[in-house]
Amino acid sequence: MADLKITGLHKYYGSMHAVRGIDLEIPAGEFTVLVGQSGCGKSTLLRTIAGLEDISSGTIEIAGEVVNDLAPRDRDIAMVFQNYALYPYMRVYDNIAFGLRARKTPKQEIEEKVQRAARMLAIDHLLDRYPRQLSGGQLQRVAIGRAVVRNARLYLFDEPLSNLDAQLRDEMRGEIKRLHQELDKTMIYVTHDQIEAMTMADRIVLLRDGRIEQAGSPLDLYERPATKYVAGFLGSPSMNFIPAQLVSQDNGLAVRLSDGALLSLPADRGNRFSRHRDREVTLGVRPEHISRAADDALRPGVVCHEVTIDLVQPTGSRTYATFLLGGVETVAELKAHDVSAPNETVKLALDMNRVVLIDPASEEVL
Ligand SMILES: Nc1ncnc2c1ncn2[C@@H]1O[C@H](COP(=O)(O)OP(=O)(O)O)[C@@H](O)[C@H]1O
Ligand SMILES: [Mg+2]
Repeated sequence: MADLKITGLHKYYGSMHAVRGIDLEIPAGEFTVLVGQSGCGKSTLLRTIAGLEDISSGTIEIAGEVVNDLAPRDRDIAMVFQNYALYPYMRVYDNIAFGLRARKTPKQEIEEKVQRAARMLAIDHLLDRYPRQLSGGQLQRVAIGRAVVRNARLYLFDEPLSNLDAQLRDEMRGEIKRLHQELDKTMIYVTHDQIEAMTMADRIVLLRDGRIEQAGSPLDLYERPATKYVAGFLGSPSMNFIPAQLVSQDNGLAVRLSDGALLSLPADRGNRFSRHRDREVTLGVRPEHISRAADDALRPGVVCHEVTIDLVQPTGSRTYATFLLGGVETVAELKAHDVSAPNETVKLALDMNRVVLIDPASEEVL
């Protein structure tokens, strides 16, 4: 049974239509990430689940029970907010214990739960401190600890890592994911950060303008995006989009770029695309599917193209090279030493097995 089931959910703030018809089922124990640009309705959706916002229409069920009219504290939910919302005048111990005391939990049980959560989050040496004596990462752990001791049915996180610096954020991602594995609870995690979504989620729900654009496992969405929006949202650097035409070539199909270059499509993809022959398409190529062409024979479906590099950006492990392809600035993710300086002319290999073709009118992936 779904732990959380949302049907036909709409939320208006006055005339502002923030959530525009969400249907979503989340199985017990799943780690779901709601991801999307700022303003797409992530927090609103999470807050309606928690009961912190009224809904305009639709139903929310938790464990088979409609909770539309249930107060937040009766929904068996624990939530971690972006701003931590700790009590500044209480020590860490008391901050974590607060919810348990409010529920009249026996003292001994509180002690055990607080200590266990503190050990799990490696803050057991900080229990006597006040929030002002903690770093951002430590504050975040306290906020998570306070949610974890609640032993709730559903855990909700609203961008809990966005106030942390990059390195700590990396670390905490791993820790929250590990926490999920240990607790085996249903968790819903909101972020605008596609890397966070990819690395943490069992399932990503990608929101756009108050609607679900696509939902699925991280690699599902990454490898089989349904729309240009999804294709461009996931992945860094982003997928390259190049206007082109789908044309016949010998017995098969090819993509013709605005500069006349013909890039053959592998035969096994022909069927899928043949009814779009002679139409305008957008060619979508991920940077990692472009490599420096080796001198030996190319793999089937890989085509060669000569370009002049105009920007070189090493990251250490890989090097991003920018060049014009069909008149459009295109980025390739190459090996560290594949290119060294701008103006170099190199032969690149495009893996046409992995490209997507997009209908420019509907922006749907063909
Ligand atoms: N209390 C509110 N009153 C009016 N509009 C709001 C309120 N809260 C959010 N909104 C609007 O609803 C939309 C979705 O907001 P929100 O759910 O906070 O987005 P996200 O969390 O994805 O950044 C935004 O356009 C925002 O400006
Ligand atoms: Mg938000």
